[in-house]
Parts: sequence; C-alpha cells; structure tokens
Amino acid sequence: MLGRHLADISVRGKFTLVLVLVAILLLVVTAFGWSGIRDSGAVTRTLALNVQKSRMIGRTLNDSNVLRTVHISMLAAARNEAYQGKRAPRKLEYEKRVADDLKEFPSLPWTDAERPLTEIEQRLVTEVVAGVAPYVAPNGNPIPVIAAGGVYTGADIMRFIKLGAAGVQMGTRFVATHECDADERFKQSYIDAAEKDVVIIKSPVGMPGRALHNEFLDLAAEGQKTPARCPYRCIHTCDYTKAPYCITLALANAKKGRLRHGFAFAGQNAWRVDRIMSVADLFKELMDGYEAAEAAALA
Ligand SMILES: Cc1cc2nc3c(=O)[nH]c(=O)nc-3n(C[C@H](O)[C@H](O)[C@H](O)COP(=O)(O)O)c2cc1C
Repeated sequence: MLGRHLADISVRGKFTLVLVLVAILLLVVTAFGWSGIRDSGAVTRTLALNVQKSRMIGRTLNDSNVLRTVHISMLAAARNEAYQGKRAPRKLEYEKRVADDLKEFPSLPWTDAERPLTEIEQRLVTEVVAGVAPYVAPNGNPIPVIAAGGVYTGADIMRFIKLGAAGVQMGTRFVATHECDADERFKQSYIDAAEKDVVIIKSPVGMPGRALHNEFLDLAAEGQKTPARCPYRCIHTCDYTKAPYCITLALANAKKGRLRHGFAFAGQNAWRVDRIMSVADLFKELMDGYEAAEAAALA
C-alpha cells in the first residue's frame, strides 16, 4: 500500500519527503537531547547538594566520635592530672568543632522532608500531648493540642499532626497574603528580610516577641522612643514612664506601613517569605505539601 503511494510520487517529491522526515527526526533528537542535558544538569546539582550534606553529616559524626573518645579517655584517667592537662586542649578543640558543625547544619539546603526535627517538634509537642492525654474536656472529648511557632509548609503541618497535635496555628504565612489587612509595606518587610533580621525583643509589656530588626528598634534601645504619655492604658504590666516605646503605637504604625515609627512582629520563618499570594493559593500549597510529605513518609 505504502509502496504504491510512493511509486506515485515524483523523484522531487520523494526527495522533499525524505528531507521533511530527516528534519522531523532531527527535531525529535534535539528535543530529547535538550531535555536530557537539562535533566542531567538538575541531577548534577542534586548530587552536589547531597554530597555537601553527606560530607557535613560525616564530619559531624566524626567530630562527635572523637569528642566521645576524648571524654572516655579523660574519665578513665580521671586521677592522672598530667594526662588531663594533655587531653584538655583536644577536648576544647573538638567541643568547638562539634558546636560549629551543629551551627552549620541548619544552613544546608534540606528539603522539607529531610529537615531535621526541631526541638519543638521533637520534645515540646510530644511532651505536651503526653501531658494532657490523661485528661478529658468536660464534654468527654480529649483536650486538643494546637502546635504553633515556625509552622511554614504542609510538611511541617504533617509532622506536628503525626506527633499528636490536633492542629496548628499559623501567623506569618497569612501575613504574606493579599487578604491580610496590613499595609503592603509591612508585607514587603517580610519579603525583604534576611534570616539575621529576625530577632527576639523584649516588649514593654514584659513578654519576649519576634520582630524584624529595623532602625526603630535600634533607636528604642538607645532610649530615643520613650513615650511622653500613655493614651491607651492597654495593659497593667506596662509602665509608660519606664517603657522604651509604646508598643500599641509602634504596632499600629507598622500595620499602616509607617515602619520608621514602628516595627513588624514576625515568626521565625518570616525571612523565607518570597512573595505575597492569595489565601486560596496558600491553602492549596499547604494541602499539596501535606499530602506529598505524607506520601513520602509512607513510601
Ligand atoms: C503580625 C503578627 C501578629 C500576631 N498577633 C497575635 C495576637 O494578637 N495574638 C496571638 O495570640 N498571637 C499573635 N501572633 C502570633 C501567631 O499567632 C503565631 O503563634 C506566631 O506568629 C508564631 O507562628 P508563625 O511562625 O506561624 O508566625 C501574631 C503573629 C504575627 C506575625
């Protein structure tokens, strides 16, 4: 059938046909080649990241192992002062190494699924869940534990739920939404923040709080923002004659975007915010992330 059709085509037509077929073949080969090159680039990058992480883990294990050996040898020769003196510098050296290793760990590019459990995830939630477990609410239901602080991704939510929390409370992620009624400049301060900008301050009402470091906080620390009077009287524990600044005024100004006259409160992961999105998109991202993390945990 094909042969009969080919016989009907002129030599020039056959030549054109071959040319078109070769061109299509070339396009297909180029497309496959190009996607192969792109994929191999991604594989190389992933490999490089994993090598970096493996080396870090290897180094930490090695350093902590040396430290353990030094500790044991010092314990074994507890009464030998000369030996203790000889080993002490090595102990100090490896204590510092392990501390440096552990400091470097969080800066590695962990994926959500790989991120080591934080102390809160590991201890606080587990202990609180176990602590309230023997008690029931007056209606007979178990007392729900809501985890909060630094919950950023769907994978984070999944971990807290698996640790026994009934739910999570999230602040920062919802600040960075179109629906949040804070001024755009407040939201932009999250996008602009680097990790080092997220600091813990002592608020005039006596509680610690996380905030994005700015000039206002520096001036307040220098005593240049003391309130002359107190129109709000919002909380007993705040004595305006001793307060470094008026927190109500500072937060109201920040909400209006007047960040030279206030500062933004923020969660520990505010520096990770890189865009403002809708609440609907945020929920979708969180739910997708939750399901992906759950599937990865089951695999
Ligand atoms: C701008 C901002 C305002 C907040 N206001 C309140 C508040 O009025 N009452 C409260 O209990 N928590 C408040 N929080 C705390 C959050 O509910 C949440 O527990 C905290 O930010 C830690 O979680 P995150 O890392 O998700 O932000 C606020 C947090 C932010 C960032």
